[in-house]
Amino acid sequence: MPPLRYRPEMLADIPEERTYFLKQYEDWFTVETPELKKITDHFVKELDKGLSKEGGNIPMNVTWITAFPNGCEEGRVLTIDMGGTNLRVCDVYLPAGRRDFEQTQRKYKLPEEIKTGSGEQLWDWIADCLKSFMEDKRIEPPEGEKFSLAFTFSFPVYQSDIKCGVLQRWTKNFNVTGVEGHDVVPQLEVALGKKHLPVEIVAVINDTTGTLLASHYRDPHVKVGSIFSTGCNAAYMEDCKNIPKLQEQGLAEDATVIINTEYGAFDNDRKVLPLTPFDRRIDQQSVQPGTQIYEKMVAGLYIGEMLRLVLVTLCEEGKLLQGQDITRLRRENAVDATFLSIAELDISEGLQDMRVEFEENFSLSPNMHDLKICRYLISLISKRAARLYACGIAAICKKNNALKCHVGVDGAVFNKYSGFKSRASQALREIFDWPAEELDLIALNPSEDGSGVGAALAAALATGCESKGRSSKIACLV
Ligand code: BGC
Repeated sequence: MPPLRYRPEMLADIPEERTYFLKQYEDWFTVETPELKKITDHFVKELDKGLSKEGGNIPMNVTWITAFPNGCEEGRVLTIDMGGTNLRVCDVYLPAGRRDFEQTQRKYKLPEEIKTGSGEQLWDWIADCLKSFMEDKRIEPPEGEKFSLAFTFSFPVYQSDIKCGVLQRWTKNFNVTGVEGHDVVPQLEVALGKKHLPVEIVAVINDTTGTLLASHYRDPHVKVGSIFSTGCNAAYMEDCKNIPKLQEQGLAEDATVIINTEYGAFDNDRKVLPLTPFDRRIDQQSVQPGTQIYEKMVAGLYIGEMLRLVLVTLCEEGKLLQGQDITRLRRENAVDATFLSIAELDISEGLQDMRVEFEENFSLSPNMHDLKICRYLISLISKRAARLYACGIAAICKKNNALKCHVGVDGAVFNKYSGFKSRASQALREIFDWPAEELDLIALNPSEDGSGVGAALAAALATGCESKGRSSKIACLV
């Protein structure tokens, strides 16, 4: 019987014949240092390819945000952020000259049926949320004026300027009809118009761009903004001279622009990622098979499903939860990332929290061995996610020679899943061979407010609302 690779302590009291099968799962889900390095090197090439005229798997979308905020931005901006799970609406006030801001916000849970309905339903629902926010907070512009509205739309869009965004494809299992291939701005404008809302969309940005702007605003050492949540992605500032697909634009020699990488699409042609049979199933059962292969291996939307598929397989093979009725566990997407996080946080002797989760969510009563084995599987799945996540960040830093910098990371999984950050940092350490005594040279720092202040900063940059040289016809109302 092959010994388990790590002989984890938590499995020490379980007879070997009950754990031998875990060796196969270790082999599937363990990504050793040389593989991390190989994936990172291929990732660097693919980032470059995305900037070329021919393009590649990774879209490397040009955002038309050409500078970081300088701290002089001022004004009042409304922002809406359509993420994978919630719509967040904020009223942001940027005081000039202070790297500080005030905001009020509200979150609206995206109804499941909206994610697969029609475009019109989606935009009407968003306009309704904004209307109710403005009414509740009594937000009204002076007669005849409009508020600047920044729209964080966290999906891949092609932009010919910052005020538009043509949806390339839905991700995160959204499938709203009539939007792919269209500019989202006029569609949302129609819905806003129907409700007579006094707003004007001045910027469309990605959540990673918002995170980059917001975290760089507070800490200029931040070179990359990233989201690790339902989906996974990153943005950074690129020199335009390194972007062949912008060559014909006649940009200044020293021009820069934020690139929303959309690197969830990395390795869609499956050259280096160590796909397991479970990854293939997740891809096949997804709304858009063959797309976002990297994202499907790491992001919060998929790690719960990964665990579910593994557990169901083991139950069917009679290796786990013997003799129990797993009907509820058979439901697609029945396990979410919170389940994994609760299990890993449970250090109680009897794994009580895990037990409650199994009982409440799936009417299952695992024994102690089941719980320990499950916990080990969870650690394998989330460790792999964190280590593969590190490859994307490492690739951006390596490509840009930013070998010492800060990365602003937002997203529920990164911020709430304990151990995620340290696992990803450890992987960075291995990829770059940092000496043991050295602190993290690339530091993953939690960032917040990308969709509030980040989007507001984008609006201010787009409309020229710096305190000096205000050039926009639409005032960011102060
Ligand atoms: C989207 C990105 C987004 C990421 C995180 C991905 O599915 O394609 O645009 O930044 O999720 O929300």
